[in-house]
Amino acid sequence: MYVGADYYPEHWPQARWKTDAKLMREAGFNLVRLAEFAWVFLEPEEGRFTFDWLDEALDILGRNGISAVLGTPTAVMPAWVKEKYPEVMATRKEGHRVNWGIRKNNCFSSGAYRLLSERITRAMAEHFRQTANVVGWQTDNEFGHPYCYCDSCRREFQAWLRRRYGTLDELNRAWGTHFWGHRYGEWAEIVLPDDEGGHNPGLCLDWHRFYSWLNVRFQAAQVRILREVCPQHFVTHNFMGTFSELDYYDLAADLDFVSWDNYPVWGAPAVPYGASLAADAMRGLKKRNFLIMEQTAGPGGWGTFGRNPRPGELRKVCYQQLAHGADGQVWFRWRTCTAGREQYWHGLLGHDGRPLRRYREAAQVAGEYHRLAAAVEGTTVKADVAMIYDYESIWALRIQPGYGPVGGSNFHAAAQRYYDACFRAGVNLDMIRPTDDFTAYSVVIAPHLYVLPDPVARALADFVAKGGVLLTDCRTGVKDGTNLCHDRTLPGLLGDALGISIEEYEAIPGDDKDGYAVIGQDDLPGAFTARHYCDWITPRKAEVLAGYERWHMKPYAAVTRNRFGKGTGYYVGTLCEEPAFYDALIADVLKRAAVKPVVAPPAGVEASVRQARGRRLLFLINHTEETKTVTVPAGGVELLTGRPSRGSLTLERYGVAVIKLK
Ligand code: GLA
Ligand code: ZN
Repeated sequence: MYVGADYYPEHWPQARWKTDAKLMREAGFNLVRLAEFAWVFLEPEEGRFTFDWLDEALDILGRNGISAVLGTPTAVMPAWVKEKYPEVMATRKEGHRVNWGIRKNNCFSSGAYRLLSERITRAMAEHFRQTANVVGWQTDNEFGHPYCYCDSCRREFQAWLRRRYGTLDELNRAWGTHFWGHRYGEWAEIVLPDDEGGHNPGLCLDWHRFYSWLNVRFQAAQVRILREVCPQHFVTHNFMGTFSELDYYDLAADLDFVSWDNYPVWGAPAVPYGASLAADAMRGLKKRNFLIMEQTAGPGGWGTFGRNPRPGELRKVCYQQLAHGADGQVWFRWRTCTAGREQYWHGLLGHDGRPLRRYREAAQVAGEYHRLAAAVEGTTVKADVAMIYDYESIWALRIQPGYGPVGGSNFHAAAQRYYDACFRAGVNLDMIRPTDDFTAYSVVIAPHLYVLPDPVARALADFVAKGGVLLTDCRTGVKDGTNLCHDRTLPGLLGDALGISIEEYEAIPGDDKDGYAVIGQDDLPGAFTARHYCDWITPRKAEVLAGYERWHMKPYAAVTRNRFGKGTGYYVGTLCEEPAFYDALIADVLKRAAVKPVVAPPAGVEASVRQARGRRLLFLINHTEETKTVTVPAGGVELLTGRPSRGSLTLERYGVAVIKLK
């Protein structure tokens, strides 16, 4: 199992490198990531390559048993690049070029930048292919940003649209350009939209798709070279969890596995199910385990910084990822740097280079991971419940959120509400694409599946007809694939599976302090508060699980459940304030689908199961600062202590346990 740190030997005198490598070895580390921002040290002027310093660093690391992932260094261009080829700088919406000197400031359609990227990638690949302790590559660093509004991007966009639509008539139809007289007569007339502005929604959605494609193409060129020159190495990229500018499914397709950067420690201690959702989304990109390429090692920030992880907290952050499919993890960063914008992004070592408490905790984790390696190897999460995680819906909801954004993205907020309830119930999820096969699952949750092309709607209805349980909610099925509103009564092709129709809907004004009271019945007991949005649902065949109190909403349902074929379709027409609402709902859904958790975790304790044929590991993570007792199946063994599990297990604050179940 890989455990290590993001390491920047170029920040420190060479005389220090041996000490670093020795400290890493003593901590049980066996991997570093190197060089992702070191372009200028590798190619100080165009076409002249200087790899000797990195050879030296790799040699010292290798003699300490440490392997390396090398970053292709294209996330920061050397100053000579922008001097020589000013057109490689991205252009802002206002028309001026980005000011060099931060990072990620290139235009992805620039031919010059793409050639320079391929050249440095090839030079590095050819030089390091024989280096024994180089095991893999990270493409660039955290793809995404900046949007570029240059002429080259506009022309590429027009060409991309031409390939996509073939004729202007088709494009005009697909975008609905009859509105406001926005019809195009020439491809060259097509503009780049303002991201947050009032442009045509079809144009805006395609612009997101195009921007994603530009990044994917840029990466693919590097991957092709790495595969050709270094077939024995893996190729990965460090993704950013729920960051959603790019279609991560597409970006992951070319890679061997996904890595991601996890920074869950910010405000006051809280149950970070967001990091679990992100981990599952990352596992879902390739349906395989992932690596953590950057893991919070201390307070972080570019100007102000966050709180210091409490003793034990970093360890449990690692176990949370392990529990969701991490097959190793790398700390960001090794030593806190004394220079540059990230002076306050703290590492395992202080500015003074001395190993801190955080180093000792990282060493403890490394030791434990190595002991667990044999048991964990080959296991992954296998869930009965899937959640559809759809970039097109995320983008289209960003373009037109519908109701006032609920702090960040309406899609993510919706996904997180159901996700959290599943985890409070102790049930794992897989995050999947709308075009994936649903038949492997008992339950599919489709939050805010706003963009719903007909084939996906039919597949969902079919899933229910054949015995599946579908839970979906408001804003689902409003749009087609080109961001036009479907011209059917909502929920469109899902109408029969859900047994409802929705003719009207509204946003609930934020200054309506009481919200709309929701009264649950029988299988969804309780009184709740609807906020932000509600569909005026007319049940056709469906049972009503909850209704409204307000006089004008009395005829309508808030939550419905419908038997359809051999399965059940649930619909939630609003956002409820109380987590208890989602707990009650998920309990009913799981009961319907006969999905049972391995344990019922107490509040603040996360449970997740990894398995392989004949082997099941139950991970328990106490996210709180209180001692918790969990009732666990007897007959297993807790692997960290070697003690048999006897029905009840105590977790200290931030405590973790890994139980090999009988
Ligand atoms: C990202 C980057 C790192 C570093 C950290 C902290 O995840 O990949 O290079 O900048 O954030 O800012
Ligand atoms: Zn551009």
